[in-house]
Formats: sequence, C-alpha cells, structure tokens
Amino acid sequence: MSQIIDGKELARNIRLALKDEVNELKNADIHPKLAVVMVGDDKASKIYVRNKSKACEEIGIEYEEYLLPEKTKMSELLELIEKLNNDESVYGILVQSPLPDGLDTNEAFQAISPQKDVDGFHPINIGKLSLNQDCFVSCTPYGIIKMLEAYNIPIEGARAVIIGRSNIVGKPLAKCLLNKNATVTVCHSKTKNIKEITKQADILVAALGKPKFVTQDMVKEGATVIDVGINRMDDGKLVGDTDFENLKEKVAYITPVPGGVGPMTIAMLMYNVVKAAKHQ
Ligand code: GUN
Repeated sequence: MSQIIDGKELARNIRLALKDEVNELKNADIHPKLAVVMVGDDKASKIYVRNKSKACEEIGIEYEEYLLPEKTKMSELLELIEKLNNDESVYGILVQSPLPDGLDTNEAFQAISPQKDVDGFHPINIGKLSLNQDCFVSCTPYGIIKMLEAYNIPIEGARAVIIGRSNIVGKPLAKCLLNKNATVTVCHSKTKNIKEITKQADILVAALGKPKFVTQDMVKEGATVIDVGINRMDDGKLVGDTDFENLKEKVAYITPVPGGVGPMTIAMLMYNVVKAAKHQ
C-alpha cells in the first residue's frame, strides 16, 4: 500500500505561511499584486484563472484580471503587457495559455518583464534555471519539488523519469531535478520502449495529458509517482495520467487527481508573487 501525497494539505500550509509574509509586506507599505491576462474564453483556462484569483484573495494578494476578446490582435496584447510591465503597483504578470490561434504564446511570454514573470516562462528565467541560478521557477515543477521534499523522498541520486516534454512542465522539471542531482530521463511521443525506461524510475512523473496512460506494469515496486494530468472524462470525472487505483497497490508514494499537483501549482504561483514583491 502506498502513501498518498496530500498536495491539498501541503498547499494550504504554504498559503498560510505566505499570508503572514504578505501581512509583513503590507506593514512595510508593499502591496503585492498579480495581474492575470486571459484572451478568449477557453473553458479550462477560466477554471484555472478562477482558482488563482481565489488563492490571491485568501492570502491578501491584490488581483487584477484582464479579459480580452478572442479576436484580440498580437499588438494589442503586447501593448497591455507593456503597460503592466511599467505599472509599479503590479508585481507579477501572468498570461494564461493557451492563447487563441493566431496569437504567439512565446512572444507574449517573452514580452513580460523577467522581474514580473511569476510563471517562470521568460527565456531569461528558463536560462537561469538551466544554470541553476536564482530565478522564478515555473509553478508546477516547483510544486513537485516541494512535494518530494515535504515527504522526504530522496531526489539526489534518484533515477527520475518524466513523461512529457512541454515547455511548462516536462522541460523545466527536468532542469529542477537535475539541479538537485537526480539522474533524469525525459520520455515523449517518439520514445521507443517507454515501459523499459519508466520501470527504472525511482521518481516517475506523468505529464503528457493522456488519461490513465501509466499502468501498473510500467512502474517499479516502491517508486514515487507524480501525476500532473487533469483529464475530464465523458462522465464528468477528473482523472490523471496514471491508473491511480491500480498503481497505489504497488508504489510507495503517489499523488491523487484532483488534490495532488494542481493545488501545489497555485501555491507556488502565490510564492512567486510574494518573491517578486520582496525583490522589486
Ligand atoms: N496554462 C496551463 N497551465 C498554465 C500555467 O501554469 N501558466 C499559464 N500562464 N498558463 C497555463
């Protein structure tokens, strides 16, 4: 039987500690503020954005939302980002992805001032992460590291396997784990014999966006499994990228969906906003 990693509880504790830090900043007349930009009305994005605003409210971080229509031009989006870069009351800027077709997500991320890039998606922050320098670390990878540390799961010397090579999760997580001296392999859609690789993992991270992709025969007994997936099934149920019910009989630690990685991502976003406010 495995131990279920309680991301919800861990995230709550992080938010509580941040609330105290925000109060201290306010006493020093620094009022952390996050600006969130969303273009169009992607259903999943709306839910993510709502959860981010709720977390800000709980912690005492000011929150500003900019909802732009689907037909927004790239120049208009860049103009707004520039305005927020120059607004001294705004400490963190987040452009929710995906953006509608025709808008360049990379260009938008790159337009955000690296000092306000609380998502950690700007090339400067990504470069600094590669060099193991202080930077904004993207929130999902950061949350995963915090979960492993909270449960005293060794990273140094561990064989870590990540399934999925996205710019938001897979790639930055590989760098985070490498910076902590894990031996890291990143698998993706072109990887051959994936099961042979995943079975070697002490830490296996599923971040590919396919419901229940990781099955019991793909994991080593006693491994730690981190499930980044959030897939809505036809019956409305949320499932991760792993076959949780069967895996939990075999592995040592596993994250549930929901209540695992998701809340940690938002907690680490709050952490980055507070960090931005302290630094600027
Ligand atoms: N879309 C899905 N996850 C994220 C995230 O962490 N940040 C942004 N900006 N967009 C996302």
